[in-house]
Amino acid sequence: MSKLLLSWIPSCLVCMAFFQSSNAAYYNVANFGARPDGKTDSTQPFLRAWWSACNSITPATIYVPRGTFLLKAIAFTGPCKSSRIVFQIAGTLIAPSDYWSLGNSPYWILFIKVSGVSVYGGSLNANGARYWACRRAGRSCPAGSRSIGFLWSSNVMVSGLTSINSQTVHVNVNSCYDVVLRNLKISAPSSSPNTDGIHVQSSTGVTISSSIIKTGDDCISIGQGSRNLWIDHVDCGPGHGISIGSLGQQVNEDGVQNVTVTSSVFSRTLNGVRIKSWANPSNGYVRNVVFRNIIMKNVYNPIIIDQKYCPSNNGCPSQSSGVKISQVTYKNIKGTSASPIAMNFICSSSSPCKGIKLQDIKLTYNNGAATSSCSNAGGMSNGVVIPRSCLGK
Ligand SMILES: *[C@@H]1O[C@H](CO)[C@@H](O)[C@H](O)[C@H]1NC(C)=O
Repeated sequence: MSKLLLSWIPSCLVCMAFFQSSNAAYYNVANFGARPDGKTDSTQPFLRAWWSACNSITPATIYVPRGTFLLKAIAFTGPCKSSRIVFQIAGTLIAPSDYWSLGNSPYWILFIKVSGVSVYGGSLNANGARYWACRRAGRSCPAGSRSIGFLWSSNVMVSGLTSINSQTVHVNVNSCYDVVLRNLKISAPSSSPNTDGIHVQSSTGVTISSSIIKTGDDCISIGQGSRNLWIDHVDCGPGHGISIGSLGQQVNEDGVQNVTVTSSVFSRTLNGVRIKSWANPSNGYVRNVVFRNIIMKNVYNPIIIDQKYCPSNNGCPSQSSGVKISQVTYKNIKGTSASPIAMNFICSSSSPCKGIKLQDIKLTYNNGAATSSCSNAGGMSNGVVIPRSCLGK
């Protein structure tokens, strides 16, 4: 490199970017033997590309070209020498058609103990239909795998990814911090069992934005130990809405705090914004949650807290939930309810909900009035709230 160019570099950001990118390692999976024919098992080539990228001392890009690549269950494991690995995916990753191949692995594509990984673009097709049919028929089926997961990882970005027909959860974030998921398109039929769009738990600093989620279960579910979550511009439906919970299945559980859901639309979903816990003793909690600027289109339970959660009404715990719910704000939520009760707060008799705030709500049912229902729920309302608040002090 010439002296002239070197002397330029410190003073020129564009040149620095050029310098860095020309220095970054680049690994095309095709050069490791991956085949875009949708039939050849590309698992080992992807793993070899990962090991090269992971052991690179510079930032590394793994490139997946156009075409369809067949992958079995695969784990991209860290820690890596490279502080930044980019997966740039132009093509589609497809799972084997025999659901047993993935079914006993908790994840199809798993990133584990990686710090600084980004996934841009790409489509995942887990081929879940036969697996769901097995579940529906009540045959003996494997537990099912989540399509893409991040475990014990940090500085994660997923942008522009499409995921269809996962066996179970599409995108799973567990025990991570600093995660951004944006511009995702997730879809599975409304009848597919437990195909949550995104599940977050035991993680801090997760942003989910500008995503379209159509699924058979929760669009987003937020499990125990979730902190500092920001969700905006999510288009949810069909599906079961955005849920905090289920919580309180166990006595010892970490809480959920500081969650914001804003600028989102729910279309014909079972629930809109929901908090749910089982009727069990628990030391879990939910606090500092804001749901605001939300449009409900024909949603069965637009606003609901359910502390007697019991989905199939079968062998349900019948104690009162120990999960303490406080400081939950609902602001500027408008639209239509598909059931007469648009706001339903079923709180625990032993730990009543505290500090619920309602402001600027307008939810109607059948072009007429909807109602609200409260048990063990305290808080206040502000501005126009329709249906009228039933909160106690
Ligand atoms: C709450 O979460 C947001 C991210 O959504 C974060 O910016 C903010 O600092 C958090 N607040 C507290 C008190 O931790």
